[in-house]
Amino acid sequence: MCGIVAYIGRQDAAPILMEGLHRLEYRGYDSAGLAVVRGAALRLYKTQGKVRNLEHLLPQGLKGSPGIAHTRWATHGEPSDRNAHPHTDAASRYAIVHNGIIENAAALRAQLTAQGVEFRSDTDSEVLAHLIAAMPADTLEKAVRAALQLVTGAYGIAVVDAERPEALVVARQGSPVILGVGDREMFVASDAAALVRHTQSVVHLDDGEIAVVRADGFETSTLEGGPTVKVPLVLEWQAEALGKGDFAHFMHKEIAEQPEAIRRTLSGRLEPRFQTTHLGGLEMAARELLEVRRIKILGCGSAYIAGCIGAQLIEQLARIPAHAEPASEFRYRNPVIEPDTLYVAVSQSGETFDTLAAVQEVTRKGGRALGVVNAVGSTIARACGRGIYLHAGPEIAVVSTKTFTCTAVAFALLAIHLGRLRDLSTGHGERLVAALEALPDQVAAILANDAAIEPIARSIAGYHDVYFVGRAAGYAVAMEGALKLKEVSYQHAEAYPASELKHGPLALIDPQTPTVVVLPRDELFAKNVSTIEEIRARRGPIYLVTQPGPLAVAVDGLLEVPSSEPELDPILLNIPLQLLAYRVALARGTEIDQPRNLAKSVTVE
Ligand code: AGP
Repeated sequence: MCGIVAYIGRQDAAPILMEGLHRLEYRGYDSAGLAVVRGAALRLYKTQGKVRNLEHLLPQGLKGSPGIAHTRWATHGEPSDRNAHPHTDAASRYAIVHNGIIENAAALRAQLTAQGVEFRSDTDSEVLAHLIAAMPADTLEKAVRAALQLVTGAYGIAVVDAERPEALVVARQGSPVILGVGDREMFVASDAAALVRHTQSVVHLDDGEIAVVRADGFETSTLEGGPTVKVPLVLEWQAEALGKGDFAHFMHKEIAEQPEAIRRTLSGRLEPRFQTTHLGGLEMAARELLEVRRIKILGCGSAYIAGCIGAQLIEQLARIPAHAEPASEFRYRNPVIEPDTLYVAVSQSGETFDTLAAVQEVTRKGGRALGVVNAVGSTIARACGRGIYLHAGPEIAVVSTKTFTCTAVAFALLAIHLGRLRDLSTGHGERLVAALEALPDQVAAILANDAAIEPIARSIAGYHDVYFVGRAAGYAVAMEGALKLKEVSYQHAEAYPASELKHGPLALIDPQTPTVVVLPRDELFAKNVSTIEEIRARRGPIYLVTQPGPLAVAVDGLLEVPSSEPELDPILLNIPLQLLAYRVALARGTEIDQPRNLAKSVTVE
């Protein structure tokens, strides 16, 4: 949730750290700080608020290397100057930045306090700085290793020692740490986004690993001291993809990037000749895939909702019982793991703690997991060891848009693949492959009609509560529409299966409570029209997202999308709802890219 950046090399660290912090600010943003080593002393600056507050605090031309920096999303201790990272020991020799939660911090704090240590913050992280200083060790590596033996919980850390500036030490347990390999300089970050401007060659630490990072290279080992071997990966992201370009917000830019993102998800995976799809990363032979009796999809938030669309696609096209469940719930209910079930973990970041824990629960009990993940080399991708990469490119806005769409597209590829191994006909397979090929242009056409959304957004912006309803896959679209709206506009938005409306929520419908109805022209069309009539009878305002065709009911606003193959329609029906949420948020003047209380990647429980 928080962001770490570190640098060691021939350049001054501060500008590199600040640039990295700006890249990571989307992950956590209630305070920021940095420390650089200069002349055997630490120069440390930190402040509550955004990275730009820190920028104002830094002296011009701040010199020194190595350096470490942090953006914080508070867990222990309120957002404040004193709780911002880095934290130091009493002598200000060691400085540490930390992501994660030290679970035994209270006990360690009590012990250290009894030994006379005075704490200067309310954080669990400061404990680590004092512990490192207290270790009898002749290198920073040994001190960090010894301190970490005393700690339980999750961490990604970077530590500098003002008296030994030739190396910095980083370690990982449950919170990502990535090394960037440069030319006689090394970079460290919790997220590849902070590295791509400097290097494309990266190394992901594994849980329980420590790295000693020098300007000319690095060594990794386990916490116990056994050496480990790491092979650098090449990042596929380009630095330009991390900027806003001509857009005012990343959310808008990422919505607009969807045609290209979908093309990348599809690239090399369509096999029109055999009316099917090809997914090299599955690493499961046809025979193995035929043995799958059930599919369970696990993810959080939008990833879970995209999984709901995925489950419907798989059931419809492959006729395999499939079900999505929030990973955060699954991991806590001691689930039965079945050998003939395929578990699919969905995650944009590949770092969501609850999803990772769900994968670990599956594999610990002998189950098979595969990942549908955007971030290449991320923890969940590596924990699954196989799956489908989205290749959607970096998503910086806290809210998922293009990765939601690309996840649904990836599930369509998987469903067709599984279906064609079973009973999906060549004709149906052919139509679906053609429909997938047409999808990017159809999405572009919806985006080009952005202006039609403006007046609807302005009127929805005036309400306090908004309902979203749909049936079957349309309900998943409604869920995502409601989630998007509440995240960026801070309105109360709730999704209901249209069929459930009269079992309770209808009591809330009145002229002040609008409903957005997801209305594909499918076999449930007439039933959905009846739902609209019921809402209308209570004088509830109605906004539709639907496909062209005759409509016999009066509505307050209409958003139309082109038709695809019926199974793929949910992907298109979702697009205007992303634009709607964006435009409502604009009208309400909320913080769009970094909504209050949220962080892009939830790496804590
Ligand atoms: C979506 O708009 C959210 N901000 C959130 O629900 C997100 O989808 C969820 O936290 C899962 O993230 P992941 O895809 O990186 O695992």
